[in-house]
Amino acid sequence: GPGDSCIMVIFGASGDLTKRLLVPALYNLACDGLLPERFAVVGIALDELDTEGFRARMAEDIRRFNTRKELDEGRWSWLESRLHYTTGNFGDESAYLRLRELVEQLNSQYSAGGNILFYMAVPPSLFGTISEKLNVAGFGTFPGWKRIIVEKPFGTDLASAQALNREILAHWSEDQVYRVDHYLGKETVQNILAFRFGNEMFEPLWNRKHIDHIQLTVNEAVSVEGRGGYYDKSGVLRDMIQNHMLQMLAYVCMEPPASFAADDIRDEKAKLLRAVRLFTPEQALANSVRGQYGAGTKADGTPCPAYREEQDVARDSNTETFAALRLFIDNWRWESVPIYLRSGKALWKRGTEVVVQFKRAPGVLFRGTPSGHMSSNRLVFHIQPDQGIETIFQAKVPGPVMRLQSVNMRFSYGDSFRAARGTGYEVMIYSCMMGDATLFSRTDLVESAWRIAQPFLDAWASRPAPDFPNYDAGSWGPVAAYDLLERDGRRWYEVIDRETLERV
Ligand code: BG6
Repeated sequence: GPGDSCIMVIFGASGDLTKRLLVPALYNLACDGLLPERFAVVGIALDELDTEGFRARMAEDIRRFNTRKELDEGRWSWLESRLHYTTGNFGDESAYLRLRELVEQLNSQYSAGGNILFYMAVPPSLFGTISEKLNVAGFGTFPGWKRIIVEKPFGTDLASAQALNREILAHWSEDQVYRVDHYLGKETVQNILAFRFGNEMFEPLWNRKHIDHIQLTVNEAVSVEGRGGYYDKSGVLRDMIQNHMLQMLAYVCMEPPASFAADDIRDEKAKLLRAVRLFTPEQALANSVRGQYGAGTKADGTPCPAYREEQDVARDSNTETFAALRLFIDNWRWESVPIYLRSGKALWKRGTEVVVQFKRAPGVLFRGTPSGHMSSNRLVFHIQPDQGIETIFQAKVPGPVMRLQSVNMRFSYGDSFRAARGTGYEVMIYSCMMGDATLFSRTDLVESAWRIAQPFLDAWASRPAPDFPNYDAGSWGPVAAYDLLERDGRRWYEVIDRETLERV
């Protein structure tokens, strides 16, 4: 059914996030009957606009950013008539008084019960100021629930994340704070838990006795493309690994939760992240590879300048656009099972995958047969752009001799389910309206993830990478990432051998 009645206040409503994702997500929710009747949106930003002007802009933008085939004019005008706007400088108290007046008026017009959802579509440096000014303006006196959705980046290292958490928690309690990690909104990521705990076939094998290692890959074909200013201060470890990939890792490796209640799941994720081995900076260097792309041709065939030539990037930048790590989870289930993570920009293709590589079956029966060697079973979660699950196993090649070959079985989401395409933000907004924090990160989770990333950040910051750029745009990434696994006698999924790798 529809979410809880509320007024949604968007800070930074004139920005990109609002038009590209938030308003299209609200529209999709409206189409699916998931927005309450007692609902209105107030946008606030610096742009000199009035409600009419804001509506006109959004009406134009939705035609570009709508994720569905056609625009349902009826549903859109329902939503458009609920959009309001007020101009305001976030440091200026009078802006909050005007905002308060507008929220009060809409709250009584729509009987929204005094529930307010604040969406911070602004840089984290503003979270503290905005929270404090909301307090001063008396938003605390509205009778209903007050929740705040905050966007990444959630700190740039452990210390800054802790400072940011302190600042936010000075004004809000933990259960009011909803930290977005948009990977948790992906159906295929949510399905990892459903797959693990809704089936009996795999979970009994989900441990060090049967699993050889795990690989998580988030390859992007895009380059930094105009985001150089942000990216050059960030790098792939902060941009993808510390947040999205460690969250996925927690889903793949955590213990079964006591229930699917938000805190039961988040408690297990927290336990898992706390068990990831914390390296010294020297160990971090030995267990990682970093890369930066040079000029090349992107997967879509367009030319790509070297990272250091991108707009707003330092000409001698030391920022990594690719990284591969080897981690260990020091707990009972996973002791000595390596977890390999890699992510990068400007790679040969886009693909997010989790590969669970099982140990090899005893080979004794097949020894001396023409098959020579046996492959191991593999389970692959294809997160995007293909969405599905694949198992790879051994089968007999037809013929008079016993010979094995790897074959696969594959489930594709598209074949079994019909779901309208969305922005990924629908479930975030809806969950927050329902007070369900399952898909949002908690203070301790964010800090644990930074603790894991910190030694890599420290090691890399103190040692410039002499070999940058070390991979061509459009290639498979730095060859050293291959070596990271080869020294353990393993390979990245899809990469057959070094020759193939050097050809791509
Ligand atoms: C964002 C990063 O969080 O995730 C981007 O800042 C990255 O750099 C994006 O491209 C990837 O998201 P998705 O959903 O396209 O995999």
